[in-house]
Amino acid sequence: ARTAAVIPAAGRGVRLGPGAPKALRALSGTPMLIHAVRALAASRAVSLVVVVAPPDGAAEVKSLLDAHALPDRTDFLVVPGGDSRQESVRLGLEALPPEYDIVLVHDAARPLVPVDTVDAVIEAVREGAPAVVPALPLADTVKEVVPAAVPGDPEPVVATPERSRLRAVQTPQGFDRATLVRAHETVEDDVTDCAGMVERLGLTVVVVPGHEEAFKVTRPLDLVLAEAVLARRRL
Ligand code: CTP
Ligand code: MG
Repeated sequence: ARTAAVIPAAGRGVRLGPGAPKALRALSGTPMLIHAVRALAASRAVSLVVVVAPPDGAAEVKSLLDAHALPDRTDFLVVPGGDSRQESVRLGLEALPPEYDIVLVHDAARPLVPVDTVDAVIEAVREGAPAVVPALPLADTVKEVVPAAVPGDPEPVVATPERSRLRAVQTPQGFDRATLVRAHETVEDDVTDCAGMVERLGLTVVVVPGHEEAFKVTRPLDLVLAEAVLARRRL
């Protein structure tokens, strides 16, 4: 089985505040995207990385990848992305050569995922799961509310799901390629992760242990945490 990684990196990063597209912003001097590509290429199983670039940034992304060495065993491709993460992933899948039968989908915004997490996801797909997601138990209790029409207004609580049964999902998510392609061809709902599309097909998605360092860089405080993690790794 050959494994490729699709890295959606086409988002603007609105929640991070004004600046370059999130994937191109620096973390300890290196673009976030480069950290994310290296994190996936660190797995010996991953022989191709498909980066889905901001629509107007494909040339810049390509020259960044040319300038930052990857392991010899790893090739890369760059394709322009779309208006939603889902659309960007679909464009990445369409660029995938036929010989890859396992696909990982990994957010450029999770630059610090450890290689052991990547390998655990691949292993579970190899063992036969059509879709695999790394995830962690939640620290906070979660409440379902009726969202306020005006941001900041009080929101009535509808339900409190039992926290011990909830998991916060990370990436890379791993798939049998044919399953993920079929999900993209048939599921029309908007979903926030690829595995959600496979669930809509009626297939079982399995969870493997995620890792704290696979957190998503979303808001400015996350940049502080990411740079602290990198500093600790360099000690
Ligand atoms: N993504 C993408 N194409 C889009 C939107 C998002 O490839 N049209 C990617 C992002 O680049 C990111 C991943 O999907 O690597 C997860 O999305 P998120 O963390 O929401 O990033 P952004 O959409 O860039 O951030 P924001 O929602 O704050 O604008
Ligand atoms: Mg987003």
